[in-house]
Amino acid sequence: MEKQTFYITTPIYYPSDRLHIGHAYCTTVADAIARYKRLAGFDVFFLTGSDEHGQKIQRKAQEEQVTPIAYVDKIVASFQNLWQKLHISHDDFIRTTEKRHREVVQAIFQKIYDQGDIYKASYEGWYCTPCETFWLERQLEDGKCPDCGRPVELLGEESYFFRMSKYQDRLLQFIEENPDFIQPTSRRNEMINFIKGGLEDLCVSRTTFDWGIPVPFDPKHVVYVWFDALTNYITAAGYMHDREKFAKYWPADIHLVGKEIVRFHSIIWPVILMALGVPLPKKVYGHGWLVVEGDKMSKSKGNVIDPVALIDEFGADTIRYFLLREINLGMDGNFSRDALINRINSDLANDLGNLLHRTLNMIHRFNGGVVQNSHVTEAIDDGLISLAKQTVSSYQAMMEQLDINGAIKEVWALISRTNKYIDETGPWALAKDPAKKERLDTVLYNLAETLRIVAILISPFMPLTAPKIYSQLGLVGDFTEVTLEMAKEWGLLPSGTQVAAHPEPIFPRIEIKTADNGAGKAAAHVEVKKTVEAVPAIPEVTIDEFAKLDLRVAKVLAAEKVKGADKLLLLTVDLGSEQRSIVSGIAKHYTPEELVGKNVVMIVNLKPAKIRGIESRGMVLAASDGEKLTLATAPDMPPGSKVK
Ligand code: MSP
Repeated sequence: MEKQTFYITTPIYYPSDRLHIGHAYCTTVADAIARYKRLAGFDVFFLTGSDEHGQKIQRKAQEEQVTPIAYVDKIVASFQNLWQKLHISHDDFIRTTEKRHREVVQAIFQKIYDQGDIYKASYEGWYCTPCETFWLERQLEDGKCPDCGRPVELLGEESYFFRMSKYQDRLLQFIEENPDFIQPTSRRNEMINFIKGGLEDLCVSRTTFDWGIPVPFDPKHVVYVWFDALTNYITAAGYMHDREKFAKYWPADIHLVGKEIVRFHSIIWPVILMALGVPLPKKVYGHGWLVVEGDKMSKSKGNVIDPVALIDEFGADTIRYFLLREINLGMDGNFSRDALINRINSDLANDLGNLLHRTLNMIHRFNGGVVQNSHVTEAIDDGLISLAKQTVSSYQAMMEQLDINGAIKEVWALISRTNKYIDETGPWALAKDPAKKERLDTVLYNLAETLRIVAILISPFMPLTAPKIYSQLGLVGDFTEVTLEMAKEWGLLPSGTQVAAHPEPIFPRIEIKTADNGAGKAAAHVEVKKTVEAVPAIPEVTIDEFAKLDLRVAKVLAAEKVKGADKLLLLTVDLGSEQRSIVSGIAKHYTPEELVGKNVVMIVNLKPAKIRGIESRGMVLAASDGEKLTLATAPDMPPGSKVK
């Protein structure tokens, strides 16, 4: 059976400058949708590109004393590098300076002119160069561009005009008959009101600069940049050049665009297509803007966030996850480092990373690294399995609605439930009882199987992490062959699968440290470090070897600082049958007062050592990550009790 097709586009970006995190946001959303659709079995065509003509770019090139094409070549290369680093899976990258595009633009300009919908007239209007838009006097706000608030210039020229007014009623009717055409609804209402206010004919050529596609029959003129830019969507789909491809993918399923350019996509673009007799796209979706710590990004404010630097620091999947999870598609969203680090630590390191790490560790510890389904089930398993199934169906429904954020939340609810399942089934307790071995194996199987499903569901958002989880679970083969259907079926992880031998933690925790920068101001910096080692790197010991350590509970009777050593404390401890002196390097973590009365765990048959002239007989045990330290204690046990 032929696959259903799905065509999605991003805006084509202006190569007037490098892209920032806001641009990366839009492309990441489109990529997540494209990847989801591929997973769901669609034949996807995902397009992005660059919008390279216009006065602004010509001026920038002049400032740098290079040709416009040399100027854009360099910046477009940086776009392509960014998309590669972010693992964007576009099928085509269109540049408006390409021959295939110039041919289409000239042909459609000619066709619309020939049918009388483009005509020549003289024109005077207010032009906003950064927006490449002409405004009427009455449309200005305080004499400035109503879109960006920057100054406009009065330009008078002889131009070609596109008879938009002729299509006003048809466009309105189309929008009213197709409630899903413009989304979200708030944008749709704005557009309806705009059209009802009356469509002016649009100036579609310029003579004041020449960095553009020449009007074929009047080469003093270049085609207006929006007429040129919007046409990219049909050029890349094969209009004029590849009939079969065009029939296959057009009309586009979604043009994903920022909220400020919905108007161009839902008014000018449909009218161009109507004039050409080409079907209209199915949907124009206007997403919100990313602001930084509550503020619009701008070079003058110096708050422009470079996505390449962020990816280098935190990794592509992490940035993708943050953008997709933190922001509701139709709304503006905030970017902050604190929010990013919080998400990494809580959702990625704690929830997902720990679930995987704990599961693999237990499979190693309790079953030699093999996942074995023994089918010794209990009611609690049904709860987990039905939640997994329900998660896949609500995830699918939400993704179809472009509720990416909602779909991610569903997956994380399943992850939390699964972490809780570990606590509720208590594999450590089961492992103590050989009679419960098969129950233990079933619990471990259920954990690994849930992770297999989670990996599939997160693959559109985190394309690097998903295959990593798969291979850590011991699943071999090409991850691109994985389908959404495989997430719907419980039990596809083959019993007997050998999981990875030394799985690395997939998301290191990020520690935020605050330090004095010398000017009395606290400066935060981030340190990425691995919290826990995966499977022990130290050689195994037998139970008999372990039994050689005499570990006991000891009560601290007295504690004092060791003179001249700021890390050491001298402890006097009671072992029930005797008292001992121990020198311990915990002075940075505990005061003597805190220690007195504590029941700590110590190794009593450690060879005595002289530390700072004091004989230390034994050692207290503590958990430490190299910075933080907490003593191992046994509060309710009498001194001398054996620890094993
Ligand atoms: N070249 C036109 C689009 C032509 S499409 C036929 C253009 N280019 S742009 O580079 O200025 O912007 C491209 C997209 O980036 C727009 O959709 C815009 O909304 C988006 N964004 C720019 N800044 C943004 C944020 N801060 N946040 C989210 N998206 C942002 O317009």
